[in-house]
Amino acid sequence: MNKKKTVVLGVTGGIAVYKALDVVSRLRKKNIDVNVIMTKSACEFVKPLSFQSLSQNMVTHDMFEEPKAWEIQHISLAKKADVMAIVPATANIIGKVANGIADDMLSTTIMATRAPVIFAPAMNTNMYNNPIVQENISKLKKFGYNFIQPESGRLACGDVGAGKLANTELIADVIVSYLNDNKDLVEKKVLVTAGPTIAPIDPVRFITNRSSGKMGYSIAEEARDRGAEVTLISGPCNLKEPFGVNVIKVNTNSEMLKAVMENFEEQDIVVKSAAVADYKPKNYSDKKIKKVGQELNLELIKDNDILRKLGAIKTKQILVGFAAESNDLINNAKEKLKKKNLDYIVANDIMSKETGFASSDNKVTILCRDGNIIPLETMSKRQVAKQLFDLINKKR
Ligand code: CTP
Repeated sequence: MNKKKTVVLGVTGGIAVYKALDVVSRLRKKNIDVNVIMTKSACEFVKPLSFQSLSQNMVTHDMFEEPKAWEIQHISLAKKADVMAIVPATANIIGKVANGIADDMLSTTIMATRAPVIFAPAMNTNMYNNPIVQENISKLKKFGYNFIQPESGRLACGDVGAGKLANTELIADVIVSYLNDNKDLVEKKVLVTAGPTIAPIDPVRFITNRSSGKMGYSIAEEARDRGAEVTLISGPCNLKEPFGVNVIKVNTNSEMLKAVMENFEEQDIVVKSAAVADYKPKNYSDKKIKKVGQELNLELIKDNDILRKLGAIKTKQILVGFAAESNDLINNAKEKLKKKNLDYIVANDIMSKETGFASSDNKVTILCRDGNIIPLETMSKRQVAKQLFDLINKKR
C-alpha cells in the first residue's frame, strides 16, 4: 500500500460497540487513517473519547452538534473514505440504508460515499433471522454492499444463535483487503499449495519437511486481495485459514496430488510453494513399530513430483515453482525451471539466517522462463507475493 488509506468506521448502538475499539486499534497498527462516526445510541454504550484516543482523530457524532450540522460534514467524510465499514451494524442502520433513509450523520455518509461499504452486523438472533432484516441484507448485497457474517454463539441477552459480531481480527483483515486497489486478478483463478506434506511410517510417526506455510498463505491472500478466485491446498500447519479463499486441507503427497489435479484445469495461475515430501516409507505399518534392537532401518521409495506432472500437462496455466536450495542457488533453480517446464521459479537460500522457514521475511530471486533473473531484497513474505504477481501481470 503506497498512499495512506482512510477508513471511515461507522459505529451503531449495540452491546458489541466496545469490540469496534479493537478494530480501530488493529487498523491504526497498519498505519491506516481511521475516522469514526458514532450514532447517538452507540454513544450510550461507549464514549466518543475512547474512539478518539485510539483513532487519534476527532470522532463525529450527533450528540452535541448543532441540529443538522452533519449535512455538510458527511460529504467530506464520504469523499475521504477509501472504505466504509459499519461495526457493529444494527438492524436499524441496515434497514435505513436498504430503504434509502438518510436522517443522521452515519446514514447520510453511507448514502453519499462511492467507496466500498462493509457491514458487520451484530444483534439478537431472532432479530437477525427476522425475514425483514434478511430481506434488507439481500437487497443491500444486490446493490453491491458487502457483509461480514455474524458468528453463532451465546449472545449478550443469553440467547444462543447467529448474531454475534464476527471476530475483530477477521473484520480488520476484510477491511484491509478492500483497501488494495490493484485488482488485476479479477476473474482469474489462482491455485496455491502451501505447507509441508507428511509421509506416515506407522499410526504415530511420520516424516515431513520443514515448512511454516507462511509463504504460500501470503501468496493466497495477495491473490485474493487482487480479485482472484483462490484455491489454497495446504498441508498441515498452524496458520489460520484466510477468509474468502477455498481452503483444501491435505496431509500426504498423494492427497495433495489428487486435490491439485482435481482443480488444475480451470486455473489461470498455479503457484506451488508447498514443501512436498519426496520420499515415503516403502511399507506403512498399521501397528505401532516396537522398539527392538539398536538400529531401525526405514526403506523409502520415491513419491510423486507434483510440479513436474503439472509441467507435463499444462496448457494455458502460468506455472510457478519454488526452489529451496542450500547451495548453488541460481544454477539449481534454473535446472528445476527447465526440468519441470515452469514459467517462473522463486529461489530461496534456506541457509540464510535472517529469512526462510518460520520467518515472516524472505529473500528470494525470481527466475523467468525467458532467462530474466530478478534478485529481490529481504522483504516480508506478503511483499514477495506482491512482487511475484506484479511480474506475472507485467509479462502477461
Ligand atoms: N515439488 C513437488 N513435488 C515434489 C517435490 C517438489 O511438487 N515431490 C515442487 C515444490 O512445491 C516446489 C518445486 O517442486 O515448487 C521444487 O521443490 P524442491 O524441494 O526445491 O525441489 P525438488 O524437486 O524436490 O528437488 P531437490 O529436493 O532434489 O532439490
